[in-house]
Amino acid sequence: MSMAEIAADGHRLRIGVPREVAPNERRVAIIPDAITKLVGSGVTVLIEAGAGEGSFISDDAYADAGASIVPDARSLYGQAHLVLKVQRPDDRELRLLQPGSTLIAFLAPLTNPDLVQALATGGVTGFSMDAIPRTTRAQSMDALSSMSTVAGYKAVVMAADYLAKFFPLLMTAAGTIPPAKALVIGAGVAGLQAIATARRLGAVVEAYDTRPVVKEQVESLGATFVEVDAGDADTQDAGGYAKEASADLLRRQQEKLAERSERADFIITTALIPGKPAPRLITAETVSRMRPGSVIVDLAGEMGGNCELTVPGEIVVRHGVTIMGPLNLPSTVPVHASQMYSKNIQNLLALMVKDGKLTLNFDDDIVKGTCITHAGEIVHEPTRARLGLGKLTPEPVSAGANGAPPAPSEVSAPPVTPASQRG
Ligand code: NAI
Repeated sequence: MSMAEIAADGHRLRIGVPREVAPNERRVAIIPDAITKLVGSGVTVLIEAGAGEGSFISDDAYADAGASIVPDARSLYGQAHLVLKVQRPDDRELRLLQPGSTLIAFLAPLTNPDLVQALATGGVTGFSMDAIPRTTRAQSMDALSSMSTVAGYKAVVMAADYLAKFFPLLMTAAGTIPPAKALVIGAGVAGLQAIATARRLGAVVEAYDTRPVVKEQVESLGATFVEVDAGDADTQDAGGYAKEASADLLRRQQEKLAERSERADFIITTALIPGKPAPRLITAETVSRMRPGSVIVDLAGEMGGNCELTVPGEIVVRHGVTIMGPLNLPSTVPVHASQMYSKNIQNLLALMVKDGKLTLNFDDDIVKGTCITHAGEIVHEPTRARLGLGKLTPEPVSAGANGAPPAPSEVSAPPVTPASQRG
């Protein structure tokens, strides 16, 4: 479809996928496979030229799937009613987003209050992929899980690269090589994938998590669960997430993990508490007692790190131990990370796009729970709480004076204002 045809095609929902602009971001929000289905459902898909380059997807592949290629971000944002992204928008992208348009991306609303406020003020309906509820029905849209799967896998591959040893047991004519010993701390989605990957490569794995329910999952992957007596402490919240440990429990965790770390050839740490700094589980003293040549890959770097000596985004050597604090590991496996993210988005869109129109049903717990801003308001309760804003009352029934999301309704496509008029 030519640009003139797109402009003339005012009644169809136009979904726009820009090229990601964050440094080192190689993922793209949608792959051609998803476009074929979207176009078949009656929407127009616009792709910014080069959007798939980092994931080795050519403009031609998008065009063959039925997308229209637009030359730059300005024309893409100027025409799109619904923008699909991986990373949250930067300042320029925020200015390009049309009032009344809808954005789906990883917004990390709890830690980006200015962005959330700007989206609300700019009249953008913002959905955050990291706010997808962790429920069975939402599993196919759970982008946090799919990206954690990529990160857990890649962390082990990095450890294998930097470890000066084999992972598997080898019995050769030149002698027997014992298997490498791994310690995985935090056995959520990333940790479980790290255990599985390390096991596949032949390492012997121990794992620890503060949530005792994880023990069975760890053992089913062939790893040994490290027990720390938590006493009466309740280590898990109602949503299934870890709670912040008390000072006393954290000290006991550090002591036990110090003992296990001394025996490990490599450690993968993934321990996180939503919206809080990462727990410091590996102290500098523990690193000093580890075997020189061993490796730590700290996936909690973005939240400050699980290891006291981690430098986020860098690889450092301390006491002979290589400590890596990689940022955005999913972007380093862009083909499959984009494929998984695209599937998550496609499944979310199945709830939102009906008969070629954007139809937001805020009675749906997934739509409601993932919506951060709408009708000029911040509507995501956890974000409101973090910002010290009161609750939106009462439960939204219709678009009222408080700007709460409307009850099942069609949200009409915004007027298309040429981007040049918005600066
Ligand atoms: P996460 O990325 O927030 O945290 C990673 C892991 O670190 C968690 O397992 C957590 O318990 C652990 N951790 C926190 N503090 C720790 C400490 N001091 N010591 C050791 N470990 C510590 O977690 P993720 O992977 O996002 O999963 C969060 C929860 O959501 C889990 O209960 C998971 O099973 C659940 N989940 C449910 C899904 C569903 O039902 N659809 C899908 C995905 C996850």
